[in-house]
Amino acid sequence: MLVCICKGITDKDIKNAVHEGATGFRDIHAALGVGGCCGQCASYAKDLVNDTVSQLQLSNNFHLAQEVSC
Ligand code: FES
Repeated sequence: MLVCICKGITDKDIKNAVHEGATGFRDIHAALGVGGCCGQCASYAKDLVNDTVSQLQLSNNFHLAQEVSC
């Protein structure tokens, strides 16, 4: 799904940036240019980054817990 029309950035681009180390909106803004033109996408992009970071942390914690219990 297209998130930033001005820059042609999709939700997949943003999720990939988080998996590559982005931890907040500033990171994806710097890496992809999201929100750097009209700014209409910024609120949704922030929510998407935060949700993706949370999901990644939960996944990492789950894998750590599995390693400890085995
Ligand atoms: S839609 Fe993202 S800056 Fe305009």
